[in-house]
Amino acid sequence: MVKIVGITITQHLLEQQREKPEATGGFTHLLNELIVAAKVISSEVNKAGLVDILGSTGDINIQEEQVQKLDVFANRIIIERMQHIGQLCCMGSEEVADLIDIPSQYPKGSYILLFDPLDGSSNIDVNVSIGTIFGIYKRESDETDINFLLSEALQPGIKQVAAGYFVYGSSTIMVYTSGNGVHGFTLYPSVGEFLLSHENIRIPESGKIYSVNESNYEYWDEKTRALVDHFKSKEKAGHSYTSRYVGSLVADFHRNLLKGGIFMYPADLKDPKKPSGKLRLMVEANPLAMVVQHAGGYASNGYGPILEIQPDELHQRVPLYIGSKKDVELAEEYISGKRI
Ligand code: AHG
Ligand code: MN
Ligand code: MN
Repeated sequence: MVKIVGITITQHLLEQQREKPEATGGFTHLLNELIVAAKVISSEVNKAGLVDILGSTGDINIQEEQVQKLDVFANRIIIERMQHIGQLCCMGSEEVADLIDIPSQYPKGSYILLFDPLDGSSNIDVNVSIGTIFGIYKRESDETDINFLLSEALQPGIKQVAAGYFVYGSSTIMVYTSGNGVHGFTLYPSVGEFLLSHENIRIPESGKIYSVNESNYEYWDEKTRALVDHFKSKEKAGHSYTSRYVGSLVADFHRNLLKGGIFMYPADLKDPKKPSGKLRLMVEANPLAMVVQHAGGYASNGYGPILEIQPDELHQRVPLYIGSKKDVELAEEYISGKRI
């Protein structure tokens, strides 16, 4: 008889809720529904090779990138599940140009959900880990009856009430924080439950892993090149680093969170339309910046905290240096020119 050990995510969320006297249960409900959406995505990812869900749709999305069928599937699953639960006043998705309103027939709530439905799309067809990233804010005005404004969603990452991600890999894991530690839960597939597997994750203060796509070297400025050269030089760094780059932010981030290290997606001149690099502030950088901060790490755009950036637009991109605090602080020294 298999004895299930470990706390379920449901139990964990209820325990966290009990610690907040003002809690109404709305957040717990929201997260539980998002978890159901992730379980559906996970089950499709795990059999993607068997059903007609691989490959691209032939469309180009708002990000001017090839849309993968699984991108569309994951996006649809999350929107359709989350729009009717009565906890949200709007959503923002990497895959949708504008804010997603809650249809009038459904009750509205006071939370805002921003998400990357499927991160690491280039890895979908080759069985490499991919994931979903999410950030949750609260509407600041309590006027739930008036139309929701984009400006209300464009809050700095420091205002997130919770953030996290799912990695669909060798196992499916969920990592999240609501400000009271960072906790990881692993999906027990035959039972369909996420069980607590990584309680109170703390990222090492400095690491021995750097993650960056070095093929962009020729498109970087001198400071960025000097920074990456630092990690490649045992003499400069004082110890040797190893390079790891999966090509799925969520997988590279998760490995560095557990082992220590730095992930970098610098600004580059590869695409004049994307001078700030490829990654998105609202649906990738901010959620992971909240997670890493509550695990004792740091996330920067090279000049200052990601979480303090006041967003101008929903899909704005940002250079990202994220991971072990000392490694990211070093990146800031190089990028801001304090160290050469
Ligand atoms: P998405 O699949 O949501 O568009 O994100 C892909 C991102 C991120 O996951 C990864 O770190 C980065 O793209 C890889 O970009 P390069 O292939 O340019 O290195
Ligand atoms: Mn992504
Ligand atoms: Mn994506």
